[in-house]
Amino acid sequence: MSKVPSGLFRSVIVLAALGVVAAVVRGLVLFGVLDAATVEQQVLANASWLGLRLTAGELREFNTPFEAHPFVTALHVLPAVVFMTLAPFQFSSTLRARCLRLHRWSGRALVLLGIPLGISGLFFGLTTPFGGTLEASGVAFAGALFLGSLISAFIAIRAGDVNGHRIWMTRAFAVALSIATMRVVLLVLMPLTGAPVQSLFGLGVWLGFLLTVGAAEWWLRHENATPNDGGRRVVASRS
Ligand code: HEM
Repeated sequence: MSKVPSGLFRSVIVLAALGVVAAVVRGLVLFGVLDAATVEQQVLANASWLGLRLTAGELREFNTPFEAHPFVTALHVLPAVVFMTLAPFQFSSTLRARCLRLHRWSGRALVLLGIPLGISGLFFGLTTPFGGTLEASGVAFAGALFLGSLISAFIAIRAGDVNGHRIWMTRAFAVALSIATMRVVLLVLMPLTGAPVQSLFGLGVWLGFLLTVGAAEWWLRHENATPNDGGRRVVASRS
């Protein structure tokens, strides 16, 4: 496996950290540790400092589904924190070589947490999409690829196909990261267009998804890997 370029590595770490922070803040609001109104005031103040067009009404509308469905929100943000924290370590060849047992147990936990994470994301994206039909279509695509990739990765490793497992896990991780990329895309699109965040949200979901999954596919091709690559197919021993 070739070395990950430092730019790609740094982007992954920044996006993963962004995802963790967003999920932790949402979790702290959900469990009443942070006051929702205070957090909204802070978000509005930050947006105005950055020169972004964001109204209190838009922010309220965005937050309402999470307050209306606290259980589904918990099913989303709690696995999200663990998933985004553990997943990057799964790609470290040093860690895998030194501690394969840890990689296996962490991987099993990630697949188990990924299922409620993906299903709850689909729930919000399909039933209460802030960005309308364009967001719903993007989330449907991303959610299906995320869940399908996780299941394919699990099936591949049970069959001893280490390379196929790596490819599908890379795709699943890319979809999870795309949720953070979408935030960066919105931060660029909002001042560029001056359009309301709600009208840009669906485009942000799609662009975040295409850019991140596209980068992952580029990386996989760069490594010249295919799921049926007989030359690189390795049969894993079980713990
Ligand atoms: C580990 C990866 C993920 C993290 C860290 C994450 C984080 C979050 C957070 C914090 C929220 C609450 C909104 C906010 O505070 O900004 C949220 C909402 C949402 N997430 Fe995720 N998420 C992840 C994976 C996914 C996946 C795989 C999907 C696709 C099915 C998804 C779809 C959604 C949708 C549709 C919403 C609601 C957006 C709306 O209001 O329209 N998420 N996510």
